[in-house]
Amino acid sequence: MSGKKIVLTGMQPTGKLHLGNLLGAINNWRRMLDGYDCLFFLADQHAITMPHIPAELRKNTADCVAQYIACGLDPARCKIFLQSQVIGHTELMWILSCLTPIGQLERMTQFKDKSKKIGESLCSGLLFYPVLMAADILLYGADFVPVGEDQKQHLEVTRDIAQKFNNTYSETFTVPEPHIGQAGARVMSLQNPLAKMSKSEKNQNGLIGVADSDDLIRKKIAAAVTDSGGTIEFDEVNKPGISNLLNIYAAVAEVSVGEAVEQFSSLGNYAPFKRIVADAIVAKIAPIREKYGEIAGDREYLLSVFRAGREDAQRRANKMMAKVYRKVGFVIE
Ligand code: TYM
Repeated sequence: MSGKKIVLTGMQPTGKLHLGNLLGAINNWRRMLDGYDCLFFLADQHAITMPHIPAELRKNTADCVAQYIACGLDPARCKIFLQSQVIGHTELMWILSCLTPIGQLERMTQFKDKSKKIGESLCSGLLFYPVLMAADILLYGADFVPVGEDQKQHLEVTRDIAQKFNNTYSETFTVPEPHIGQAGARVMSLQNPLAKMSKSEKNQNGLIGVADSDDLIRKKIAAAVTDSGGTIEFDEVNKPGISNLLNIYAAVAEVSVGEAVEQFSSLGNYAPFKRIVADAIVAKIAPIREKYGEIAGDREYLLSVFRAGREDAQRRANKMMAKVYRKVGFVIE
């Protein structure tokens, strides 16, 4: 082991990565590559909590890894693996679920939102979703978990579960800290700036994919919902559309929101503002799209990345599971 602090995080391989994933997540992960022992995984077991097409999941998983790498997660400087390929995540989830009150899981915002939408037929996997997340994190002794704002509540559950296990069975797990970046922590839909940009959006104009063409990016930004009045101000309550574009611009241009507001405040209307925002996004996305194009078809390379990641992750998982089984009283031979 390197002696460095451990950073671990994951993403569901459901479709193409979008600007929210890039700005709210991957950019922060990339900044941690040098100072930490970094583990990144694809949460394919979480992905099946929603109806899916198996062949698509398989393809999306490989595509997602290619997009991770294209976004700058260099496999020579981190480990990239698939959740389903490491034995330990679901085993640990079971043990942790025996310490987690159902009420706490029923109070999760994501669970409540999905139950409202889906109703009675909601699968129980969605209820246990945060426990699987806790297992993902605790299995590797992660110190820091870089996530977007929307995952903060799940991280709190993870911390509670870790403390509960430690109090019940003696000190075992590191209690992880969420690591939430400033700019881009909450990128909203371009079509509905009150909802987060999400892979499951019905209207694809709401999100910008990291493989979108320059033209498509420009069209989507031109069509982005704005607010009444032509002034460019950061006011998430009264001007959510403009505030979202300012937030996105600040993150891609690597300036503060205040600096972005200052830069645009003299513009009299939204059209030139949108053009500058689109140019900044295009400049960020174009090299990622090109790199993705090069890697996506190289199956052997991608397989070699998974394999190296899996071997390393399995070694760590085995060590932790042996400790956990001993603590809870399972017979180990
Ligand atoms: P997922 O796949 O929904 O999102 C992956 C990461 O992207 C961030 N993100 C956003 N950030 C800003 N604005 C947005 N619009 C936006 N949309 C997504 C998310 O916060 C996340 O960091 N449950 C997790 C995956 C997971 C995981 C874990 C993460 C499973 N196990 C263990 C960390 C640790 C999820 O569905 O993320």
